[in-house]
Amino acid sequence: MSANEEVKLEYNPKNKMPFRRLGPSGLRVPVFSLGGWLTIGGTVIGDPVKDIIKTAFDNGINMFDVAESYAEGKSESELGRVIKELGLRRTDLVITTKLFWGTRKGPNDAGLSRKHIVEGTKESLQRLQMDYVDVIFAHRSDKDVPMEEVVRAFNFVIDQGWAFYWGTSEWSAREIEEAHHVATRLGLIGPIAEQCQHNMLNRERPEKEYAPIYKKYQTSTTVFSALSSGLLTGKYNDGIPEGTRYANHASFFKSTIKSLSEQDGKDKIRKVQELTKYAASPEIGCTMTHLALAWVAINPNTSTVILGASNPEQVLDNLKALDVIPKLTPEVLAKIDKILGNKPEALQTYGRPALDKYGRSAL
Ligand SMILES: NC(=O)c1ccc[n+]([C@@H]2O[C@H](COP(=O)([O-])OP(=O)(O)OC[C@H]3O[C@@H](n4cnc5c(N)ncnc54)[C@H](OP(=O)(O)O)[C@@H]3O)[C@@H](O)[C@H]2O)c1
Repeated sequence: MSANEEVKLEYNPKNKMPFRRLGPSGLRVPVFSLGGWLTIGGTVIGDPVKDIIKTAFDNGINMFDVAESYAEGKSESELGRVIKELGLRRTDLVITTKLFWGTRKGPNDAGLSRKHIVEGTKESLQRLQMDYVDVIFAHRSDKDVPMEEVVRAFNFVIDQGWAFYWGTSEWSAREIEEAHHVATRLGLIGPIAEQCQHNMLNRERPEKEYAPIYKKYQTSTTVFSALSSGLLTGKYNDGIPEGTRYANHASFFKSTIKSLSEQDGKDKIRKVQELTKYAASPEIGCTMTHLALAWVAINPNTSTVILGASNPEQVLDNLKALDVIPKLTPEVLAKIDKILGNKPEALQTYGRPALDKYGRSAL
C-alpha cells in the first residue's frame, strides 16, 4: 500500500499495548504481535483473516509476522490483501517476513544464497503488496553459504529500501556471533534480533545458549510458539480435540502427538496441570494460557511474543496476559521454576559474583 492511499483504520494510541525496542535498534515493537504460521492463508482464509487482523489491530497489535514459506506464500498474500482492504497506514505497522524455505522446488529457490535472498525478498514484497518490510529474517541458517555472502545480501536488501533491519531465526549462538564479526569487519549491519522458540517447556537455547549474545550484541528475541502450539493452554491434557492444531496437522505433529502417550509427554502434561492450578490461585488468578504468555513476555530479552491465533476470540483471550505480567514477581517466578524443574543453569562465573544486565552485582 502506498503512503497516499486512503486510511480507513487508524492505530489507536489509547490502547494499553506496551512497546519495546527490538534489539539494539530504534524500532519499537509491541509486547504482543501476531503471526501467520499454519493459520493465515492455511487453516484461515478469506474474511476470517480480516476479522483476526482487525481485532488484533483494534486492540494494539500493530506487528505482523509471516514467511515466504507459510502456506506456500499464501500467508503473505492474505496478510497483504487484508491490510489493503482494511486500509491500514503502512507507517503504523511493523511487518516482518522470513526467507529460507522458498515457495518452489528449484535448486536456487531456497536457502540463503545472495540469489535467493534478493529474489525471495522481491517475491515476498509482491505477495505482501508492499514496498518494504520492517525486518527480514533468515528463517534458518544455511551451512552451504559463506557468512560473508549472507551478510552482504541482507545489507543489499536494506540498501535497496526493501527492509529496514535483518534478523536471524533459530541460528546457533556461534552463527549469530559469526554474522556479527563479518558485519563488523565489512562495516555492514549485523542481525538485530533472533526469532526463536521460547516457552515454559523449551528454555535451554533462549535462556542459556543465547545469554552471551544478549549481552555482547544487545540482541533481543521475537519469540514464537509461546504456547507450544497450544499445549500450554491445557487443551491437550486429555487427548487431541477435533479442530485443534494437532488434529488439523496430525502428520506434522506426529512425533509430538506420539510423545504425549510416553513419559516425556506425560511429564509435560503433569506440569501444565500443576501450573494451571497455581495460575488459578489467588496469588495470580489467571488461566494457564495467560500465565504461559505473560511468563515469556516478562523475560528481559523478549522484545515481542508473536501470538498465533485461529480466530479473533483467541487474540482477545491471549491479550489478557498483559494484565498478568505485573503479577509475576520474583517469588512467583521462582515457584513456577520449581514446578517446571527445567531452569537452565546460569553461565559459569567461576566463583565471581554474577552481574545483572547493567553490569552490577547484587547488593
Ligand atoms: N521462526 C520460526 O521458525 C517460527 C516457527 C513457528 C512460529 N513462528 C511465528 O510465531 C507465530 C506464533 O507461533 P505459534 O502459532 O506456534 O504460537 P502458539 O501460541 O504456540 O500456538 C498458536 C496456536 O495455539 C492455539 N491457541 C492460541 N491461543 C489460544 C487460546 N487462547 N486458547 C486455545 N488455543 C489457543 C491455536 O491453535 P488451534 O486453535 O488451531 O488449536 C493457535 O493457532 C507464528 O504464527 C509465526 O509467525 C515462527
